[in-house]
Parts: sequence; C-alpha cells; structure tokens
Amino acid sequence: MEELRDRVERVVRQVVRELLAAGQDLPELSGSRGRRRLVVANWKMNLLRASARQWVEAFPESSDRHCQVVICPPAVLLWPLAEALDAAGRDIALGAQDLHPEAGGAHTGEVAAAMLLEAGARYVIVGHSERRAAGEDDELVARKLAAALAAGLCPILCLGETAPERERGLTLMRLRGQLDLALAGLGHPAPDPAGLVLAYEPVWAIGSGRAAGADDAQQAAAFLRERLAELFSFAWARQVRILYGGSVSGENAEHIAACPDIDGFLVGGASLRPESFAAIVQASRRQAAGKEVSR
Ligand code: PGA
Repeated sequence: MEELRDRVERVVRQVVRELLAAGQDLPELSGSRGRRRLVVANWKMNLLRASARQWVEAFPESSDRHCQVVICPPAVLLWPLAEALDAAGRDIALGAQDLHPEAGGAHTGEVAAAMLLEAGARYVIVGHSERRAAGEDDELVARKLAAALAAGLCPILCLGETAPERERGLTLMRLRGQLDLALAGLGHPAPDPAGLVLAYEPVWAIGSGRAAGADDAQQAAAFLRERLAELFSFAWARQVRILYGGSVSGENAEHIAACPDIDGFLVGGASLRPESFAAIVQASRRQAAGKEVSR
C-alpha cells in the first residue's frame, strides 16, 4: 500500500513538473480563492468580564465577507461576551480554547463541547502547544478533534515544531506526524472542509516576539495542504483554512497574509489590545480584498 502510494506520488510530481516545464497552469491547490479569511484572538488566561466588555467597545471591527473575526476567551467569559457582542450588534464569532473529549460525566473541572456550544462558542482551539506542553499527547488531541466535529464545533487544530526540531531539520516531519495522528480517527467520509481549520504555530515563535518568516510560514502551510490533499482529496484540501500563529503583530501581518496558503491568523499577545488586533484584521482584509480585485 505504502509502495503504491509512493509510486502514485512520484507520478503526480512528474506530471506537475512536465506541466510546469510546458508553461501550463496547474489547477490551484494553494490559491486562496473561495476561502474566507479567519482571524482568531486567543486571549489565553487573560481578562475579566469588565475588561472583556471594554475590549469589545474599543474594538472597531466586525466580520465581513472577506474576513471572519473570532474571539476565544477563557470559557467562563463566553456567555457574557456573547451577550455583549449581541447587545452591540457585532458580527464576531466566539471560540473556546479547549474542550474535553467526552460528552459529559465525572470529569471534575472539565468542559464538554455541548456546554461550549450552549455558551455561544462556534470554534474551539485543539492541541495548542501550551496544552501539549502540559501533557496533552497526539492521541488526546485526536479525541478532542473528533469530539468537536461530532458536536458541530469547528476545531482549530494547532500544529508546530519546537526550536530543537527545527534546528535538526525535522519541521515537516513533525507537522506531518501531528496532522496524521490528529486526523487518524476521522475516517471517511471526510468532514466538511469548511468546518475544520489548521493553525501552523511554531512553538519557538509563540510569545517570543519572533514570528516565522513569510517564506517559512508559507512552506509549512503548503506542506500541510498537500498532506490534506493526499489524505482526503485535492478539492477538499483547497477548501480548508490554514492559519499562522506565533508573535503575529500589526507590523508583520500584512506580509504573512500575502502568502497563498495562509488564510488568517491565530493571535495571542497582540489580541489583548483591541487596536493591535484590529490592525491584524485590517491587514488580512486588505490582502483578501486585493486578491479579489486582482483575479
Ligand atoms: P502569540 O501567541 O501571538 O502571543 O505568540 C499565539 C498563540 O499562542 O496562539
């Protein structure tokens, strides 16, 4: 089976090389055509109800057809934030930062997918490196991903290499391993591609003030998309949104947002200040709108 797949991959690469050599266009796997940008604030363990409300008042943006804006606050703030956004008439979706893989039961301190949905969440971050560092393994990440999908929450699956892995040239191997294991239990038919988001988040870039270069971010995102195409299909992989996360700022967002395989951002530190998060949303929107004009 493995051998057959290798042969098929070699043939596909050969066909691609020949088409390129003949100056013909390839059907686009990367082009962001049809994928709405997604910019997600990960507040982590920050803000209280009053400061969250002030944040909403000071944040000038809403979602539009180019760009979906999502806030992932601490779980206890989902409900008050849903109310505040509703009262202010703002089109901003909510997400959770984690979920428990079981639907309910004796799991002290945990929160199930249905509870997050009821509190207003539509998205949920799964496999963030801060949770992986606290002991979450690939098997648990896979169970959480499946639980989110089963409940109708859109998982934002975080993947990324550590600094030592990068130094040893193991980045793509690590990404492939994490992706394959997270999706292993899904089987067929594939889930709705619009209901699954990947976030490439190199661990060394998170909170370090040192974002990945646009070329590296693009390479990782393109690699993930190619792997999705192998696992499911070309057409399916084209529809999945892939975000970049790790020290995103108003200054570097525009450059990274221009990458053909990057469909938005997962933002930690810079999302705590409404003005810097707004700058990131605006940069993403400009890129999306620019692409539409240039088509
Ligand atoms: P950062 O965090 O933007 O502060 O680097 C990103 C994340 O952890 O998702």
